[in-house]
Amino acid sequence: MATETKPVIIPQTNQSLPLPLQDRVAIVTGSSRGIGKAIAIHLASLGAKVVINYNSNSTLADLLVTQINQSLSKSNSPQAIAVKGDVSDANQVKSLFDAAESAFNAPLYILVNAAGVLDPSYSTIENSSLDEFDKTFSVNTRGAYLCCKEGAKRIKKGGGGRIICLTSSMAVALRPGFGAYAASKAAVEALVKILAKELKGTRITANCVAPGPIATDMFYDGKTEEMINKAINESPLDRLGLPEDVAPLVGFLASDGGEWVNGQVVRVNGGYI
Ligand SMILES: NC(=O)c1ccc[n+]([C@@H]2O[C@H](COP(=O)([O-])OP(=O)(O)OC[C@H]3O[C@@H](n4cnc5c(N)ncnc54)[C@H](OP(=O)(O)O)[C@@H]3O)[C@@H](O)[C@H]2O)c1
Repeated sequence: MATETKPVIIPQTNQSLPLPLQDRVAIVTGSSRGIGKAIAIHLASLGAKVVINYNSNSTLADLLVTQINQSLSKSNSPQAIAVKGDVSDANQVKSLFDAAESAFNAPLYILVNAAGVLDPSYSTIENSSLDEFDKTFSVNTRGAYLCCKEGAKRIKKGGGGRIICLTSSMAVALRPGFGAYAASKAAVEALVKILAKELKGTRITANCVAPGPIATDMFYDGKTEEMINKAINESPLDRLGLPEDVAPLVGFLASDGGEWVNGQVVRVNGGYI
């Protein structure tokens, strides 16, 4: 049940009011679909110029870029571009940041790291494969590390820049079958809390946003009807989250008003845990 099949609704903006993220350059990794896509649309609706990063599916990324540029761009220059790049590869991460800087001819302001993977076998640690463990840590942890490292170097200092990493409520829910995934996200939470302190004096904040179960390809992949219903029943709000339930929080953290939230893990899960 992919969320991508639904029509994209891009909110129109009131032309006379200044937008909170007007012309601020944002990279959103893993934004061709799912939560990253909703975040990219939301940041663009707040005025940001967004880089839609993906790893394999250029069709979805290009489609989103067209939709954002047609709905929101107020000039002939694009408000969104698509850049392919594997976040676990240091050179590709550097190229992604280079592309963001040159496309909009402005310094980078916001990094949202949403790229992530989850092993859909939901194996116990005893039965899990080492390859899947390595892949999980490679994309989720090494990828977040490389993006944070590049973001800390390149985001404009003194200007209220933002680093936001998507982790997971699973890092505290700790359900069987999610060993490598939960550990890969817990590592990112430690990394980002330290990064926030290391960025003292730059006015750049660093936070994690940790969703609970959200109806995306990642959530549905490999799950039985019973597993899906269990996740719904565990929610006090009796439903799965949607990518649009997560995006406004990221928009707030990215805005000037979000400055005082720094070095935190903000769980956005409808009360799941
Ligand atoms: N869905 C949930 O229930 C849930 C809950 C908590 C946290 N999260 C976290 O939220 C984030 C987004 O999850 P989602 O559910 O939206 O996932 P999703 O629907 O599977 O989308 C994943 C996105 O990441 C990209 N991606 C995957 N590997 C990549 C790589 N190596 N380099 C660059 N991009 C890569 C994909 O691009 P391609 O298609 O081109 O590969 C796609 O755009 C993830 O970090 C996830 O761990 C999700």
